[in-house]
Amino acid sequence: MKIAVGNDHAGFQLKPVVISVLEERGIEILDLGCYSAESVHYPIYGEAVGRAVASGEADMGIVICGTGIGISIAANKVPGIRCGLCSEPLSAELTRQHNDANVLAMGARTIGPEMARKIVETFLDTEFLGGKHAVRVEMLNNIK
Ligand code: RB5
Repeated sequence: MKIAVGNDHAGFQLKPVVISVLEERGIEILDLGCYSAESVHYPIYGEAVGRAVASGEADMGIVICGTGIGISIAANKVPGIRCGLCSEPLSAELTRQHNDANVLAMGARTIGPEMARKIVETFLDTEFLGGKHAVRVEMLNNIK
């Protein structure tokens, strides 16, 4: 399992939490930046993670910006990406079960490190349910 991680300057502070969960689980990390709190443009990092996942270079992605909104919009512009913005674990569980989300987005200005840890763990531990949800995911995939 390889996970692509991307963040802007506002998300940079939360990245160590994500990295530590992935390392604890022995998951390979593709860190696509940014690498400091110097101001950058979040679409670059959302797109980079989206492309890494869509191409198969990474199995899944995790993106972080201030709210998680801008970087999730960027990731979702990449065909094949289903990025779910989560601020608590139930959403992380349901976006895996129902949406087969392949990218998780979080906001470093809206949640704390303990919540982020729980969200990442839940996202990684939850499987897609398939069935009627597969029909809907296919409908999502067909929106061009
Ligand atoms: C950066 O200031 C901020 O706009 C960005 O991190 C994010 O919250 C955008 O949606």
